[in-house]
Amino acid sequence: MNYNERMKKKVEEIRKKQVVNILAIESSCDETSVAIVQNGRTVLSNIISSQIEIHKRFGGVVPEVASRNHILAINSILKESLEKANMTFEDIDAIAVTEGAGLVGALLVGVTCAKALSFMLDKPLIAVNHIKGHIAANYIANKDLIPPFICVIASGGHTAIVEVTDYNSFSLLGTTHDDAIGEAFDKVARVLGLEYPGGVKIDKLAKGVTPTITFVKHFAQENTFDISYSGLKTAVINYVHTKKQNGEGIDIKDICASFQKEAVDMLTQKAIFACKKKNYKTLVLAGGVSANSYLRESLFKMGEKEGIKVLYPPLDLCTDNAAMIGSLAYFVLQKQDPAPLDLTAKANLPLE
Ligand code: KG4
Ligand code: ZN
Repeated sequence: MNYNERMKKKVEEIRKKQVVNILAIESSCDETSVAIVQNGRTVLSNIISSQIEIHKRFGGVVPEVASRNHILAINSILKESLEKANMTFEDIDAIAVTEGAGLVGALLVGVTCAKALSFMLDKPLIAVNHIKGHIAANYIANKDLIPPFICVIASGGHTAIVEVTDYNSFSLLGTTHDDAIGEAFDKVARVLGLEYPGGVKIDKLAKGVTPTITFVKHFAQENTFDISYSGLKTAVINYVHTKKQNGEGIDIKDICASFQKEAVDMLTQKAIFACKKKNYKTLVLAGGVSANSYLRESLFKMGEKEGIKVLYPPLDLCTDNAAMIGSLAYFVLQKQDPAPLDLTAKANLPLE
């Protein structure tokens, strides 16, 4: 029996097991992470090594530098993850890895490591879509959460409103055709002189501040779920440049609060609109920007008013981590064949 046939058989056996332990690897951007997740819902370990300190001085992630640092970190993170879970490779049923979307060089480190482990241990390889993984972080945090539901994906590279019809089936309702929300946060932060990654800094500076600036006059377009951030981002950047050229001071806290309000309100309105239109009572948040306190608070309040249950992951599962990949891998394994050994990293990977 060749590798593919053997792995298919093994997956059939794993599906019959009561307890399934998946070792998952995530390396799509600037976090090297290895986790061990049981039955898709229980995290036995989730070790994350962040490269933020390394990329800070460049004002953003440098892909080549990220790849090199993943290589330096991956073996020790793998060892630490097994130790934390008090396990050896023998206790692991399958190896999961983020295949995309992300930085190709960075992804390749995780994919190569996972393929080597799968081959060496003779255990199935499960390929996971990073964005879908962000949604799965909610299965860890909310043990009773079962699709279908509406999800708002708000991350550094993606912003979308999706209908999650099953654990691994999605229908894209709306998205941005320009900047992602996290990208807009980071670019605005940069023009304000805040360190990378700027999203969390804007969140902190905006706390308790009443916004007074209107950057863009928004018109609620009820016939679409699509969102755009480039207009808002450009308006903030132009505002700051004009003030500086005129020799006027800027109120950084007010700019942060005003930008954050406009960026988040755009998304929350569309999300609630999607729930109403599609008749859903559960709304789930996913992605790095779901750590934003104003987004969490305002969606929760709107949900309470509209009778919609709003769920989001704990802060440590909002940004990139391997536990969310291990969670989704469990559900992927129930229905799909394992990945072949010629699996490659993919910069873009559609949701549908
Ligand atoms: O999901 P993620 O870890 O990476 C991608 O898959 O893209 O998201 C990272 C993004 C960055 O843009 C970061 O600035 C943003 O999430 N972010 C935040 C907050 N925490 C992280 N944005 C706003 N408020 C926050 N508290
Ligand atoms: Zn991410």
